[in-house]
Parts: sequence; structure tokens; C-alpha cells
Amino acid sequence: MRVFTGIQPSGDLHIGNYFGSIKQMVDAQEDNDTFAFIANYHAMTSGAKDLSKLTMQAATDFLALGIDPNKSTFWVQSDVKEVLELYWILSGFTPMGLLERAHSYKDKTAKGIAANHSLFSYPVLMAADILLFNSEVVPVGKDQIQHVEIARDIATKFNNQYGDILTMPEFRVQEEVQTVPGIDGQKMSKSYGNVVNIFGEEKKQMKTIKKIVTENVAMDEPKEFETCNVYNMAKLFLEGDNLIALQDRYKKGGEGHGHFKIYLAEVMWEYFKEYREKREYFENNQDEVREILTIGANKAREIAMPTIQKIRSVTGIKY
Ligand code: ADP
Ligand code: TRP
Repeated sequence: MRVFTGIQPSGDLHIGNYFGSIKQMVDAQEDNDTFAFIANYHAMTSGAKDLSKLTMQAATDFLALGIDPNKSTFWVQSDVKEVLELYWILSGFTPMGLLERAHSYKDKTAKGIAANHSLFSYPVLMAADILLFNSEVVPVGKDQIQHVEIARDIATKFNNQYGDILTMPEFRVQEEVQTVPGIDGQKMSKSYGNVVNIFGEEKKQMKTIKKIVTENVAMDEPKEFETCNVYNMAKLFLEGDNLIALQDRYKKGGEGHGHFKIYLAEVMWEYFKEYREKREYFENNQDEVREILTIGANKAREIAMPTIQKIRSVTGIKY
């Protein structure tokens, strides 16, 4: 099964990104034909500064966290420029109304953000990403479902005119993935300023974890764990007996939330240890990262070429 996903390079990754998305990508590599790319053209729609730095950071982080270039095809979007050609071709199969209904555009304009054309046409580029590589399954967060539906609409229109050329993609929402809470208990999100980053200095991590909002209960008293933001973060890193042991500490009383925070910081630090080491390696070997991306782009292009050639031929672009 060809599983396809794009990631916008947007800076430091947090544990919501990890458990909500990266971990599933890494797990999916084991028994699928996985395609993962860094969506640097997409990042331009929000006017990302330092795009080249952010792109290298994303590549470094994803390799450190387990994207394996031997198992997945991993590349940077702009290294396979045929996607822009397909984007233009598909634009001719995209009714304006379809884009006017897109949440990504509607939400931003509703907030008074001045929209430019790239934000408006972003779903067409995403359709081109998906369709150029004959993707079968696109794992998405709920906010991206509509974009996969748009890709299906565009593919249908194209195929109605030219025959069965484009593969119809399906979206897959990971219902079992829960929303990771931030330090204030809301959904963890960079835009809410409530994140715990995956990579960071130990002291800084501790400082962030100390800020997690907890209820005010006397030290001796038993404490609720199900509703506790510290517990709900810690449980992402714990299994079996270790999780039960933490629950028991809550139920027993005698310890404060500060103790649980220290425990969370330790468990998290240990969990990401191997990834930190790998990250440091790639950080010190950026040429190797570039090489991996070049090989990935070549692999991706090999898959894309037969599709784009077929499209050039049926549309008459090839003369
Ligand atoms: P942010 O909200 O911090 O800007 P993004 O929107 O860039 O994060 O999310 C990137 C990926 O990480 C998406 O697939 C999204 O579903 C996942 N993700 C982000 N925050 C969380 C969270 N709190 N819980 C679960 N998954 C999350
Ligand atoms: N739009 C996606 C996001 O903001 C990223 C993305 C771009 C993507 N192209 C894609 C995701 C193709 C899946 C498939 O998260």
C-alpha cells in the first residue's frame, strides 16, 4: 500500500507532533510503501522566514526521530519540480467554488488575514503532491481531510476527460490517536504557546514541565490522575507496570504534583535519548542529510516521471 504524507517545515517539533503524527509515520514504514516529503512550497503560503534553515531542520529532526531512508522515500518537495507542472495542469480541473469552500482559506480570511493566491490555490498543490505519486492512502489530521477530498474531486474531473490516469487517493484519519494536551491542558499547539518540545536543553525542558497546570491538592491527599495534565503527558511515555505504578503514586497521596513533574521530565528525557543522539549526529553531518535528500528526490522522481509523462501525453502538452 502506498502511504503518502507531507510535512510542513515549521520549526521546533513538540510531543503533540510526535505522538499525533511522526510516530505513526515511522511505524507505517515497516509494512508499507511509505512516501514522506518536506512541503517547503506549502510553507511559502504562510510566508515562512528562514525557509532553507527550516527545511534542513525538519530533515534533521525527522531522520533523528526514525524516518528511515532505506524504508521510506524521503525528499524535499521542491526537488521534484514536476509537481508544479501538475499543479498548473490540475488548476484547469479545479472549479473556483471548490477552493472558495476550502477551510484553510476560509478560516484565514475570516480572521482578517489577507489572503494571497498561494493560500487560495494551496489545495491544488496538495492534490498535485498526492496524485503525482499515485498515492493510495493519505494519513491526515482532521483539518486536512477536506484537502484530500478536493484531490479526489480534481482527479475525478481529470479522469472523466482523459480516462483512468490518476489513482484515487483515500484519506485515513487516525481516530485512535488522542490529542496531546499542552501545559495548560488545551490541545498542545505551537500557536497556543503551550508546547513541550522534543529536542531542547534539559534545564529548559524541566522549566517548561514545571509550568504544567495542576489542581491544588494538599501533599498528603490522594490525587486524581485521569484529569491531571502531568499524568496525561506521562502516560504517552509509559506502559504496563510503570503506568500502574504512577497511578498508585497518585492514589496513595504523600507526594505533590511537583514530584510527578520531575518524574515526567526524567521519563521524557530518557525516552528521547536515542533520538537526541541521532539528531546530534545528523546536526554535525548536514552533508549526509543533504545526500539522503538527494537520493530520496531521485527515487521520488523515478516514480513521478511515468505519471507526468502520461499526463503530458494525454493533455497534448507533449507535441
Ligand atoms: P501545531 O498545532 O503545533 O502548529 P501542526 O499543525 O504543525 O502543529 O501539526 C503537525 C502534525 O502534528 C499534524 O499531523 C497534527 O495532527 C499533529 N499534532 C499537532 N498537535 C497535536 C496534538 N496536540 N495532539 C496530537 N497531534 C498533534
Ligand atoms: N497541507 C499539509 C499540512 O499542512 C502538508 C501537505 C502538503 C500534505 N502536501 C501534502 C499532507 C500531501 C499530505 C499529503 O499539514
